[in-house]
Amino acid sequence: MQPGAARFLGAASEPGRYPPLGPPEIAVAGRSNVGKSSFLNALLARRGLARTSRTPGRTRQVNFFAIAERFRLVDLPGYGFAVGPVADRIAWGPLIEDYLATRSVLRGVLVLVDVRRPLEADDRDLLGYLDHVGLPAALVVTKLDKLAHAAGLRALASFGGPVPVLGFSARSGKGRDGVWRLIEAWLDAPPRTVHKDRR
Ligand code: GTP
Ligand code: MG
Repeated sequence: MQPGAARFLGAASEPGRYPPLGPPEIAVAGRSNVGKSSFLNALLARRGLARTSRTPGRTRQVNFFAIAERFRLVDLPGYGFAVGPVADRIAWGPLIEDYLATRSVLRGVLVLVDVRRPLEADDRDLLGYLDHVGLPAALVVTKLDKLAHAAGLRALASFGGPVPVLGFSARSGKGRDGVWRLIEAWLDAPPRTVHKDRR
């Protein structure tokens, strides 16, 4: 698939205040600073479309990007890093949870993890939650360029489990094709049934 024209659609900082329902959505989640925004930019070959930073905890909203009007990519706030005003911190969990539980057009969630770190409790909780609400999930193991080839392969194997595992590097672009194939498969799958949808 060609990424085509990607454009920023809008952001939500409170549960329920999302753009009107439209094409199917694929969400990107993961710990703060794991590389979610860089992943989106690399996937879409659009440096700077999703804001990246060296300061963990920067993306505090749910950001929606339209991809050639065919589907949307959704950048979720990073979890697991307590910075900023208390009011912001406690808003993140409910915001992510509400979006995941209620968004009827959501087709799957890419959970990003850093190749140099094992899965943490937050990641396991998220995977468990996705399973609970019946959403397809995959692990995207990013920053692969930080390890030598053999060490990268060993690290990838260590993430094996119930969901697909894909290696990725935003720096080199490695793994883009595999991620696009997975997104295509999710977009082709039937939509989910949501009981809590507010719209
Ligand atoms: P929050 O929005 O704060 O949760 O962060 P994020 O998950 O969006 O991470 P972001 O994309 O801002 O990247 C965090 C840092 O990791 C930045 O310094 C990026 O340049 C770096 N980074 C992200 N992906 C890669 C990668 O594949 N390789 C390398 N070497 N660095 C990366
Ligand atoms: Mg970000």
